[in-house]
Amino acid sequence: MIRKECLLSIEAGSLYLFNEKNKIMATKKTKSKQESKSDKNEKTTKEMKNSPLHKFFIEGLQDIYYAEKVLVNALKKMQEAATTDELKEAFEEHQHQTMRHRERIEKVFRSLDEEPKEKDCPAMDGLIKEAQEVISNTEEGTMTRDTALIIAAQKVEHYEIASYGGLAQLAITMGHRKAADLLEKTLAEEEDTDYLLTEIAETSINFEAEEEK
Ligand SMILES: [Fe+2]
Ligand SMILES: [Fe+2]
Repeated sequence: MIRKECLLSIEAGSLYLFNEKNKIMATKKTKSKQESKSDKNEKTTKEMKNSPLHKFFIEGLQDIYYAEKVLVNALKKMQEAATTDELKEAFEEHQHQTMRHRERIEKVFRSLDEEPKEKDCPAMDGLIKEAQEVISNTEEGTMTRDTALIIAAQKVEHYEIASYGGLAQLAITMGHRKAADLLEKTLAEEEDTDYLLTEIAETSINFEAEEEK
């Protein structure tokens, strides 16, 4: 059955619905464009914050925020334990960089209107434990220790590269341009560190370690 209702006017912010005998059947308040737009934005932000992907993204940030904190201390121990000045300097430089990475994550949180929070990262705790074992299982002042420390540090870098790479891509997907830029900046620094460690190992340390009796 076809209903013969017709919409005749939208006046003074109200919408009037008439039937064929010109009898008003219903009125409905309409919203100004500005009101509708702000409602939509509010809803979008709320919806976005409740989405499972957003929650996962924030948890990922909390994970790496924690990881960077525990790493500062671990890198200090690795620097003290290293044999060569070259590796000591690399660890020292990366320790300062790691503190900046943590500050950068705080900026990411703020850009998303979220409080910086940490979430335990068992993976990073495990990688740091492994680095500590390397120190206990190798002799002080040897190149073998440096070789082993480089590998332990590269495992850490690869965890960070995977984390920042994934989070930066998610930020792009979700339209968080500022967060993506910040995460990509740190990603590039982690990749540079990984590359530098490979270079240090392959230039001399691995060869000298091989000579050790
Ligand atoms: Fe880092
Ligand atoms: Fe790193």
